[in-house]
Amino acid sequence: MEKNIAVIKGDGIGPEIVTESMKVLDKVAEKFGHKFNYTQLLMGGCSIDANGVPLTDETIAACKASDAVLMGSIGGDTTTSPWYKLPANLRPEAGLLGIRKALGLFANLRPCLLYPELAGACPLKTEISAKGFDMLIMRELTGGLYFGARKTEEVNGVMTATDTLTYSEDEIRRIAIKAFDVAMKRRKKVTSVDKANVLDSSRLWRKVVTEVAKDYPEVTLEHMLVDNSAMQLVKDPAQFDVMVTENMFGDILSDEASMITGSIGMLPSASMNETKFGLYEPSGGSAPDIAGQNKANPIATILSAAMMLRYSFDMVKEADAVENAVSKVLKDGFRTGDIMSEGMTKLSCSEMGDKIAENI
Ligand code: NAD
Ligand code: IPM
Ligand code: MN
Repeated sequence: MEKNIAVIKGDGIGPEIVTESMKVLDKVAEKFGHKFNYTQLLMGGCSIDANGVPLTDETIAACKASDAVLMGSIGGDTTTSPWYKLPANLRPEAGLLGIRKALGLFANLRPCLLYPELAGACPLKTEISAKGFDMLIMRELTGGLYFGARKTEEVNGVMTATDTLTYSEDEIRRIAIKAFDVAMKRRKKVTSVDKANVLDSSRLWRKVVTEVAKDYPEVTLEHMLVDNSAMQLVKDPAQFDVMVTENMFGDILSDEASMITGSIGMLPSASMNETKFGLYEPSGGSAPDIAGQNKANPIATILSAAMMLRYSFDMVKEADAVENAVSKVLKDGFRTGDIMSEGMTKLSCSEMGDKIAENI
């Protein structure tokens, strides 16, 4: 098959980790007789530097014309980078939110699983990590606080800032359906995370998710408050199968979930619309502290490419091959610095990409 992939390398470690992902995709193409054509696009800080804006109409149009988008990460050090002296709508993150909205990517799938080989990199007590876990966070991605009206103004002589959290029934229903559909292919359990003891948006969330559950009698639904969920994630992650939640809660819980898999550098992500189209990126950021040093972990981005093969291209064998190659390399004791432990062999970002490609 021939597929056109829009590639946004982005900022910081973005170019390093995407390069390794493309190396692995090229190996997949060679082994399985496919052709992947790449169109490189700018978004985020690099687009600000080149075009004065974080996202251009050309980038959006080229993504829409592609079969899928492969992305690194965008942004800089938010305390020192000049990008953060710009108005909010011209900063790197505005580009990312803009592209998610423009492509209608409302469903963000973040699978979090503890590879048995990485149990030593998991910061949880050994009796918890020994049980392992395999869950998926289904994060709503185009609503909530990220897209509500916001303003900063003077009220009675005092500077006051407002962000609004709005969800419509329709927005909740479509993400709930995605969560139940995915749960049907997994262990058939959905945990809906909200703050229904305080927020109106969460009370509506709970009501709509409960209604959707009626169409999935085989799936067990539970509701959990977000603060308890954060605690349960470190107490007993194995209890979770699919966790569905709103945008901001999902952002925070997925970083927490990533760390118990060993590192944020392990957590892939797929952002999908109603069709098979998706944008695939690691869940973590541009890691300005290690950018340009060839030491980032490329595995999250490589596993994101595997999600692209599986979800957008229906290339199941190929996706399995990438995931198996990652497992094999971990089994063989190869690690990047973030997941390094005693007795293992430490690799650079590019060496890790080479090793995974070799194992396809
Ligand atoms: P971050 O995820 O970039 O980094 C947090 C920590 O995790 C750092 O110590 C970093 O070195 C480490 N880390 C992240 N990815 C890693 C990898 N692949 N391998 C090894 N270590 C890794 O979060 P931050 O520092 O809060 O944010 C930095 C910038 O990234 C900000 O501008 C933020 O807005 C942006 N960001 C972008 C995305 C995205 O593009 N999807 C996601 C999150 C943050
Ligand atoms: C993520 C990131 C983004 C988000 C930022 C960079 C806007 O943290 O993809 O998790 O909050 O969604
Ligand atoms: Mn995040």
